[in-house]
Amino acid sequence: MSTLELVIRLVYLVAAVGFVIGLHMMRSPATARKGNFVSAAGMFAAIVATVLLVADGELGFRVTTWGWLALAGGTLVGTAGGWGGARVVKMTAMPQLVSIFNAVGGGAAAVVAIVDFMRIGVGHAPEPAFTIPVSLDVLIGAVTFSGSLIAAGKLQGWVSGSPILFPGSRLLSTLSALAGLAGVVIVVANPSTWALMVVLGASLAFGVLMVLPIGGADMPVVVSLLNAFTGLAVAMAGFVLSNDILIIAGALVGASGAILTKLMADAMNRSVMAIMVGGFGTGDSAAGAAGAEGAADVRSTDVDDVAIQLAYASKVIIVPGYGLAAAQAQREAGELGAVLAERGITVYYAIHPVAGRMPGHMNVLLAEADVPYTQLKEMDEVNPEFDTCDVALVVGANDVTNPAARREGNAISGMPILDVDKARSIVVVKRGMGQGYAGLQNELYSDPKTGMLFADAKKGLTALLAAVKETVA
Ligand code: TAP
Repeated sequence: MSTLELVIRLVYLVAAVGFVIGLHMMRSPATARKGNFVSAAGMFAAIVATVLLVADGELGFRVTTWGWLALAGGTLVGTAGGWGGARVVKMTAMPQLVSIFNAVGGGAAAVVAIVDFMRIGVGHAPEPAFTIPVSLDVLIGAVTFSGSLIAAGKLQGWVSGSPILFPGSRLLSTLSALAGLAGVVIVVANPSTWALMVVLGASLAFGVLMVLPIGGADMPVVVSLLNAFTGLAVAMAGFVLSNDILIIAGALVGASGAILTKLMADAMNRSVMAIMVGGFGTGDSAAGAAGAEGAADVRSTDVDDVAIQLAYASKVIIVPGYGLAAAQAQREAGELGAVLAERGITVYYAIHPVAGRMPGHMNVLLAEADVPYTQLKEMDEVNPEFDTCDVALVVGANDVTNPAARREGNAISGMPILDVDKARSIVVVKRGMGQGYAGLQNELYSDPKTGMLFADAKKGLTALLAAVKETVA
């Protein structure tokens, strides 16, 4: 082993340790940001080491001047796209961005396998130790690529968020899965470019057909599943290139993505298989238009009334949802909680695992607003508190509070919800009677205990904060 190779292996080891420490730090909102930097630093070191490895010819081929120019150009475009995209994207559009990153990761892994197969495989009767990871890399990478693009389109509203099924779509989906698997067997038994292209084409088709029938409320689970697939595809690319750090990074993403998928599916009371096969959720992602139309059977309330209720309560539970994120009202929510807590009122923020549009969405927003972690309560922990809660203040949350989930026969049946309806009094801040992500009206709003404060979350909470301060002055 040359000195350079030894140094590079050590850098890879340090990078791998960085990934694991970074992931560990992401377990808590308090250290998540630093954890991201630690992982990114590990990845940067791994990239530099790999470029040195290539420059030294250790990978068995020499890069031409054009090759280096292409590498530099690709790095620039990729860095600018990733950096710029992550900086300008709104928090509420983060799932679409994650989906696009998944597509790029899966697609890149598949391209690596195809290029390496063309370079080494054609005409050299390669071993199964090479053809198995190549064909699996193309299979998983292509499913991830096309599936993630459809998921991003659905989340962005370019493709309907409702389940899309057409006559024969299930049969087509099964046939494309079988064709992809048959292609893998042929590539391994009798390596040929055409068989690899069958794997590619069938997997691209399967990715599209797998995600189209999945609707509304189940999208988060699918995005997380595709994230796990990206990790698997990258790990396969690591086997293809005999690159340890790719195997480690891919395995970590695959394993953490799989765990997150399981946790989210459990939180929705679904099985991952049922989502993939059944296309459970329904409804359109577009929240209903603002305005209080359809509000006839609900009771409106006003800021002064709510301020008095809050100021004289003993326990208040604030329930944030997507609307709080859309209005960027986290600071106002945090300040309101702080003012109430200063008066000796017990304040909790109830966090539903799929509130908002991405895993941990509410935790991230409330951490940004410096809400004390002790006040953030996950669903299982906070649900028993609603019985003794004087005011549940729901801010832009809808599906995650809808008692319809406790009944059969609708898009969110079986999904555990926050037990807001058990509170003594309920106030809902939202712009109108717009539906949630699952496309359902919320029965909570017509509960006699509920007062609707129709307002944009930021404006409503700002007014409420001022009124509470005035009441307690
Ligand atoms: P939703 O059910 O989506 O409801 C959000 C509500 O916010 C809408 O009814 C809307 O009503 C209101 N709203 C929108 N903009 C507002 C604003 N500026 N000010 C005040 N209110 C506003 O939200 P949720 O309860 O958080 O549930 C999340 C849903 O998204 C679940 O169905 C979940 O499965 C799905 N989902 C979750 C994720 C992840 S991983 N968290 C990813 C994708 C999808 P108005 O129009 O009347 O104001």
